[in-house]
Amino acid sequence: MKDIFNKAAGAAKFIKQQIDDLGELCIITGSGLNPILESFTIIKSIAFSRIPHLRDATFHKGEFLVLEHEGKRYCALNGRLHYYEGYSAAEVAFPIRILFCLGVRKLIMTNATGGLQSHYEPGQIVMVKDHINLLPDNPLRGYNESNFGPRFPDMSDAYNKEWRQTTLELAKSQNINLEQGIYACFQGPSLETPAEYFYLNKIGADLVGMSTVPEVIAANHCGIKVLVFSVVTNVCMPIEDITPTTVESVIEVANRAIPVLKKLVFGSL
Ligand code: HPA
Repeated sequence: MKDIFNKAAGAAKFIKQQIDDLGELCIITGSGLNPILESFTIIKSIAFSRIPHLRDATFHKGEFLVLEHEGKRYCALNGRLHYYEGYSAAEVAFPIRILFCLGVRKLIMTNATGGLQSHYEPGQIVMVKDHINLLPDNPLRGYNESNFGPRFPDMSDAYNKEWRQTTLELAKSQNINLEQGIYACFQGPSLETPAEYFYLNKIGADLVGMSTVPEVIAANHCGIKVLVFSVVTNVCMPIEDITPTTVESVIEVANRAIPVLKKLVFGSL
């Protein structure tokens, strides 16, 4: 996308025309995790389909929200785009480019994942400390738009260490068991076979999902700090104990994690 900066700036202008103060921190909710937004006051909601150049969400709701909490403004994406919806990684990450043009500099993302450690419990929250991109794509492939960032962005601190450290301290003070883990992104939409879960565990992943990584790459490219919470909705190790996973069970287990997730998200604002 050679004109990606103009397109993102155009989308940001469309949003700014409707609401000017939208804060510097954005929250992106994953499957079954949008109830964390209910504790905010919603000031403005704009459907993805109305925002110029933005693709529409076919699984999640897909709205851009402006929120208020304790007198401060934030924004949120209620839902995200996925590679498995048929979009390129660049299209999946386009909302991050818009957020950059809107002045957002901090991003809290949440997602539902398969857990690749046998000690994980369904509903447990794991903070992502690193990732393995197994998508056959990268959002920065092709022309580099230097208004966003460099051709070869560094990814050594993709999940901001300082922010993770303060979040670990917050979790400890609230008696929340918060482990850190490595997230692998598979393209989906089929879930993984037992052999694939085993492979992912062998290559060092603790979590597997179908999202987040394109957005994290794009966020790092343009200097947006990232914090990611994964909810383990199905435990996939040991592989002999795997039972079928349905989207209903993913959403049900994700919902159970909401009270703890809210504490972590609100504590990290
Ligand atoms: N694999 C990929 N994505 C997921 C899973 C899984 O097991 N669970 C929830 N999202």
